Amino acid sequence: MATLFKRWTRGAAPEAELSSAAFADAAARQRPAFLDALWLDDAAPVRESDLPRFSAMASDDVEGVGEEPTLARARLALRDTLGASQPVTTRDRFSGRHDALTQLIAAIEQQRVHVVVYGERGIGKTSLAHVFADTAREARYIVLYGSCGTDGRFDEIFRAFAAKIPMLYHRSVLPTTVEVEQALNFDSLLPAGPFGPREVSDLFSDVVGTRVILILDEYDRIADPHFRRDVAELIKNLSDRAARVQLVVTGVASNLDELIGFAPSIRRNIIGLPMRPLNLGEVAEILHLGQDAAGLYFTDAAVQMISTMANGSPYLVRLLGHRAGIAALDQRRTQIDPAHAKLAVERVLTEWNATLPRRIQSLLAREEARAQWPLLVAAAEAGTYSDGWFVAADVAAEMPGGPSPASIESELRKLATAHELLESEVVGPETRFRYRFPGVASLLLMSASLARLDV
Ligand SMILES: Nc1ncnc2c1ncn2[C@@H]1O[C@H](COP(=O)(O)OP(=O)(O)OP(=O)(O)O)[C@@H](O)[C@H]1O
Ligand SMILES: [Mg+2]
Repeated sequence: MATLFKRWTRGAAPEAELSSAAFADAAARQRPAFLDALWLDDAAPVRESDLPRFSAMASDDVEGVGEEPTLARARLALRDTLGASQPVTTRDRFSGRHDALTQLIAAIEQQRVHVVVYGERGIGKTSLAHVFADTAREARYIVLYGSCGTDGRFDEIFRAFAAKIPMLYHRSVLPTTVEVEQALNFDSLLPAGPFGPREVSDLFSDVVGTRVILILDEYDRIADPHFRRDVAELIKNLSDRAARVQLVVTGVASNLDELIGFAPSIRRNIIGLPMRPLNLGEVAEILHLGQDAAGLYFTDAAVQMISTMANGSPYLVRLLGHRAGIAALDQRRTQIDPAHAKLAVERVLTEWNATLPRRIQSLLAREEARAQWPLLVAAAEAGTYSDGWFVAADVAAEMPGGPSPASIESELRKLATAHELLESEVVGPETRFRYRFPGVASLLLMSASLARLDV
């Protein structure tokens, strides 16, 4: 999410000659006034007639709910096109990413390798996987999608995949044989009990007459190292036998090794596809989908502001675009300008803050937290690549000219022990840290964006 922050920091002038850009960056790390007001404000009493109401009936009927039907319809259209809670599953809702889709298709079709799609949380991996699956099905591939869970087992997942491949595509089977008539699938050839990569590769090497793509989404959630080792072995076996089955693995990671582990023997059989942050054109494309459906108009300045605040994350583009649209509709406007985008950021911050436990909210509201804000923001930035984890040196790299890694480490330890803001674990010679509540990291990153607007 904060890839752009990183780029800004790295792109800033060397410490010796603090440029105005670097100064602006440092200033943006201060706690924004909006948050002070949020934490200090006692909510004003609300009259019943002012209480909010639904803008459409559960049937999506917009008549008779108190709001003008055109406005209510625009709200529904905005929600449908820019709602940020689900991945995109169809091509008509999918924007940009032409290069990623092209590379993925080429890796599968031309290079015949397995692919690992990786990137930060919310960058669009699952959406890419779904749209790629659609595209491959058009070319008559059998595409099977599986989402991994923490307690996923290798044999269970691959048995489920095998259960969806008809025996018609098995080397030993003729179209008229009994297996086909009985509509049996590949799982009928697997042992009843547990099995490993060898049995799976033996079975999948017998696929003929079609090609199969197995998508293993959310792979980072698999906690069992044996699972990863088995998948690596399966990739090796399938490649050695030139099987007509290919894997597409996706997950949160900053590099390939983090996701699949270091398995040199499969290096030449896989291609890593990093998902990069969206550029301004792609951000505009997503917002335009929403504006066209809802009959609204994002000004160029609003698009620019949302792009800056979202730091290339499609999730944040949709979230902020949606909220900015609602802010405009609340004022009965069809033009969405930067003021609406700013309101959207403030609303999102308010909502994220509300999801945090009270003790964390009051911790962040304290004066000490204000003094620590630059460090807290730098830590959030440092954690964006590896699902929140960072070491003291990563934070130091985000604070050129700031405290030494040793003093940062001691502050981080205090935050982990005294305040429970961070969790920590020892990995080899290093201690790594992470915000205990991911919402804190998101709030800090967004607060830095907001403060940057005020600079
Ligand atoms: N190409 C795209 N066009 C439009 N919206 C997109 C695109 N890619 C992602 N999004 C939106 O961004 C959000 C996050 O997308 P998605 O769930 O695919 O990301 P992810 O990388 O799989 O996230 P996670 O790391 O949590 O699994 C969703 O709201 C989705 O609708
Ligand atoms: Mg996903």
